Amino acid sequence: MMITQEYAKLALKTKCEMKTIIDREFGHIPIVAEIEWSVPDWSIIIYEEGQIVAFVNLIERIIYVDTIACRAVGINNLITLNKYRGKGYGQKLMLAAKHMICGRLRSQLGILLCADNLIPFYQKLNWREIQCTVLFNQTYGKRTWEAKTMILSFGNLPNSPCQIDLNGLPW
Ligand SMILES: CC(C)(COP(=O)(O)OP(=O)(O)OC[C@H]1O[C@@H](n2cnc3c(N)ncnc32)[C@H](O)[C@@H]1OP(=O)(O)O)[C@@H](O)C(=O)NCCC(=O)NCCS
Repeated sequence: MMITQEYAKLALKTKCEMKTIIDREFGHIPIVAEIEWSVPDWSIIIYEEGQIVAFVNLIERIIYVDTIACRAVGINNLITLNKYRGKGYGQKLMLAAKHMICGRLRSQLGILLCADNLIPFYQKLNWREIQCTVLFNQTYGKRTWEAKTMILSFGNLPNSPCQIDLNGLPW
């Protein structure tokens, strides 16, 4: 069963379960622990026998692509539990995310920040790596994202932007 729900309306138990899974998956990575991340706006969750087996979070934001303001959705914490990997759940969640981005959320752009090894996974789903400066906010000021950035575009935006400003905390 797959559900799409506003993150703020999820049961506390569900949020805690997701946080435990996220900490287990990414908590040990220094850059992840060091950065302050956005709170999600939406969660897409796959359950099997009442248990969470995979999920992805979405953040809605006006961002700036070469100073052009655009409606964007950030992909945050796509995770399939170890035991359930390779069954198509990741792909299914990303397709659901795509439908949210260009459908219900009427956004021009999906954007995700990721590690090198996942580029092929997202490319298969038509996401495109971009080489540009990506800025995000932290309480102490602006910072640059040093790893990979991928986009899925639905609008009339620059094909190869020089700079993207996430206009808030990263995801
Ligand atoms: C990335 C992740 C969500 C994929 O979930 P999944 O449910 O196993 O994905 P799927 O079963 O839908 O796999 C879809 C395809 O992508 C491939 N794939 C999965 N993980 C991959 C990876 N790390 N690198 C390259 N290809 C990958 C699969 O082999 C499959 O290919 P196929 O269609 O040719 O068989 C999962 O490996 C995971 O949770 N990883 C740890 C968390 C993480 O890094 N998340 C991404 C943050 S940016």
